[in-house]
Amino acid sequence: MGNTPFWPESASNWAASVDGLYIFLVLVSLVMCALIFGAVAFLSAKYRRKPGVEPVQIEGSHVLEITWSVLPMFFFFAFFLGGALIYFHERTPPQGATEVYVVAKQWMWKLEHPEGQREINMLHVPLGQDVKLIMTSMDTIHSFYVPAFRIKQDVLPGRYSILWFRATQAGTYHLFCAEYCGTQHSGMIGSVVVQPPAEYQEWLNGGSSNTPLAQTGEKAFAELGCVTCHRSDSQGRGPMLTGIYGKPVVLEDGRSVMVDENYLRESILDPGAKIVAGYKPVMPTFQGIISEEQLAALVAYVKSLTPAAGAPGSSVAQTAAPEKTGK
Ligand code: CUA
Repeated sequence: MGNTPFWPESASNWAASVDGLYIFLVLVSLVMCALIFGAVAFLSAKYRRKPGVEPVQIEGSHVLEITWSVLPMFFFFAFFLGGALIYFHERTPPQGATEVYVVAKQWMWKLEHPEGQREINMLHVPLGQDVKLIMTSMDTIHSFYVPAFRIKQDVLPGRYSILWFRATQAGTYHLFCAEYCGTQHSGMIGSVVVQPPAEYQEWLNGGSSNTPLAQTGEKAFAELGCVTCHRSDSQGRGPMLTGIYGKPVVLEDGRSVMVDENYLRESILDPGAKIVAGYKPVMPTFQGIISEEQLAALVAYVKSLTPAAGAPGSSVAQTAAPEKTGK
């Protein structure tokens, strides 16, 4: 759907599929409406009471009932299928996406880029590149909503919500909070600025010198003493962290969990929740000790520990992700 009057701007890879599903929903609803009200009008005229005609009892028809139950079912399943496909696609970020940490609080959006740039109520993103949002809240439930991108995701305290998009059109777009979060909820607004890659790079390079997020995390890792147990050899009291991100890990009870942002987060704030097989629950909690920003830096640092490339910060997107088209 282009940028036509009465239709919101479309500026991301999601716009076509979300609009398509929406239009399909509206069309099916219109057709069903027309059929039902048409039948009501037609039948009440045809079978209206006429002088001299006695009403007759009409018995049910199985064929008719099955037809009008089964046929719409396929359409309604199509709603579900379309919605589910978009949902899972939206929540499965492609490899190599630029990762932006989003912290919502009453009443502002705080954003941090992997290169260390921080923004408030403003998010700069490169045109045509995948951007993954790792979002959490410091207080109540907020919702990250960019209508032009057709994305909306609740941002919850105590966990990360993940979402990704690829901007398809340069420009500045509204960012709203779409969950009532207190008296100034309506003021919790901002902008998403989509820039061509070169311009975006220029923006990244500008301003005061920034420390990459993973590097900030590395520093915190040392200062908080994490490094004494999580050693880079396997002799530490805690598991080795190199290369664990994105892979499953076996727990004491035999279960296996995927090491993602939420697992890292939980393991820092509530270390006893999921103990890796072969280790003891000796790690202290960092709940209330570190800020959301420090937590994001630590998570970014652990993610950057790749065995081959090695260098912190190597999680930063370099390669173009495989082409994905909306469906
Ligand atoms: Cu934050 Cu509404």
